[in-house]
Amino acid sequence: MVSRLDYNYLRSLMLRYLGIDISIYKVQFIYRRLIARMRALNLNSIEEYIVVLKRNPQELSYLLDNMTINVSQFFRDPHVWRAVREEVFKPIIDYKRSRGRRVIRIWSAGCARGEEPYTISMILHELLGPTLNGLTVTILATDIDPNAIEAAKLGGYDPKSLATVPPSLIRKYFYYDNMTGKYVVKDTIKRIVKFKVHDVTRHPPITLVDVIFCRYLLIYIAKDVQLTVLSNFYRALSSGGYLVLGASEFLPEKAYSMFETVNLRARIYRKRLNAD
Ligand SMILES: C[S@@+](CC[C@H](N)C(=O)[O-])C[C@H]1O[C@@H](n2cnc3c(N)ncnc32)[C@H](O)[C@@H]1O
Repeated sequence: MVSRLDYNYLRSLMLRYLGIDISIYKVQFIYRRLIARMRALNLNSIEEYIVVLKRNPQELSYLLDNMTINVSQFFRDPHVWRAVREEVFKPIIDYKRSRGRRVIRIWSAGCARGEEPYTISMILHELLGPTLNGLTVTILATDIDPNAIEAAKLGGYDPKSLATVPPSLIRKYFYYDNMTGKYVVKDTIKRIVKFKVHDVTRHPPITLVDVIFCRYLLIYIAKDVQLTVLSNFYRALSSGGYLVLGASEFLPEKAYSMFETVNLRARIYRKRLNAD
């Protein structure tokens, strides 16, 4: 349906105007998103779509919106968060305390509109209390999509997006803003989250991280690029650091030289000490 010529044209436009190289994504994924966008505009062929793109440069950012599927949820896959609390956060906290260390660094890569990093912040506040027990916790939350990052910083959500947040946590960590009709994350939770635009396939990794959450992002990425991203994560993690993938994602076989399984069902892995 989409010729190589059209694909290359699209790729060069997105690279030039948005700084995004769509060849990092699986080709089938790009085609599906392209077709979805063409349907929304009632277009039947990629040639017609290219004409629209030439006439209206703004269309490129609509296409990007369509490609960066920011679908997320607070406490997405509750069983994963229970496992993360018990098998990742508690051991890290014990380890840091036993070594007299106070800093914990967490990276939420592909954080969408903030639901994931704010979920992490709420879990840690529940675990450690309002002062985080004297620990200095930073959650670095990154996404390729600048619009998602801006929305995440504001931290306002429609009431229905809070369906997966326990009511006691809504009362404790959100306030209702009458002006916007949204529930807004309180500063106690926001305080430890730092947002930044970042492309996991191209930008240098964040370093000295204890845990990386990269959930429901690698599924869209081409196989060879996935390995590059996972090698970057390997370098980003401190010794014995953890990696958490989406519950429907699999660690590619080649990456088992870098990571070992902690909990397969929850897709929790750990950096091998003697990899390379
Ligand atoms: C489906 S959402 C997943 C959000 C969240 N991690 C979760 O599990 O609910 C995927 C996110 O990855 C982001 N993304 C896609 N490609 C990316 C890249 N190369 N670097 C960083 N973020 C990317 C998208 O913009 C989107 O917000």
